[in-house]
Amino acid sequence: MSTKIKHFSIFGNPIKHTLSPKIHSLFSKQTNIPCIYTSVKTPINKFTSKVNFFFNTIGDGANITLPFKEQAYHISDLLTNRAKLAKSVNTLKKTKNKKILGDNTDGIGLLYDLNRLNFLKNNSVILLIGAGGAAKGVLPFISSKNRKIFIFNRTFIRAKKLENEFNYLGNINAISFKDLLHVKVDLIINATSSFMKGEKLILPSLLIHKDIYCYDMSYTKNSTITPFLNWCKELGVIHFSDGKGMLVSQAAYSFLLWNDVLPDIDSVLLKI
Ligand code: ATR
Repeated sequence: MSTKIKHFSIFGNPIKHTLSPKIHSLFSKQTNIPCIYTSVKTPINKFTSKVNFFFNTIGDGANITLPFKEQAYHISDLLTNRAKLAKSVNTLKKTKNKKILGDNTDGIGLLYDLNRLNFLKNNSVILLIGAGGAAKGVLPFISSKNRKIFIFNRTFIRAKKLENEFNYLGNINAISFKDLLHVKVDLIINATSSFMKGEKLILPSLLIHKDIYCYDMSYTKNSTITPFLNWCKELGVIHFSDGKGMLVSQAAYSFLLWNDVLPDIDSVLLKI
């Protein structure tokens, strides 16, 4: 009996530079699970109709990227606990009884990568930069009882909103630019879209000390480094990383949801 080849796709806008089809093709080869993975540039007002059409025809699962993660949360029939926590969805799966299950693998992807790099300790003081969808999606996953998290955002009120929404999970506080001058943090995570928008991210250089870890959720497609990491490097930071590891990890956890197999992340990371 031949097994049906599963169809997956990524929906987003823009989508031209996505690495997801390449990553999933490497997972498919590695695990010997044949699948087709395409990308769909989705017009801003056509998200629901495009996704529904896909699932009503050939689709078994989908990844959702900017700017549709909140809409994906709302169109899901069922939600995993992770998706409920993040209030956004980056992975959809058609269940056996044809319902759409929404999951969010961004947080676990970031956590996997920070642990892989050894950037995160039980009692780390973390500075999360940004208060948009990307920051919100990962915040619940990096917080824990013993960690202190500061959220800094160009627009302070949005950081305050995140603080209010998530401070039941732990020690989470919005911080102003001025107060950044008086804190010592162990790990900085850049979750802003400044790089994607080609804009400058302004932070006080006083934050940097010799033992700091710096993580940029953005990444470049070539061997150059992101402007935030370049700024860190110029100030003498030794431990820094871009978000390619997070990208591969979140993809691996989507693959797990769809196929019940977690592919090896590290070997694929070396190939993209
Ligand atoms: P995403 O879903 O990618 O997070 P978003 O919800 O539009 O997108 O949020 C973008 C985040 O990046 C916001 O925190 C934004 O700051 P503002 O709330 O002040 O807009 C941040 N951001 C974007 N460009 C930035 C820049 N040049 N400097 C600092 N922060 C920036």
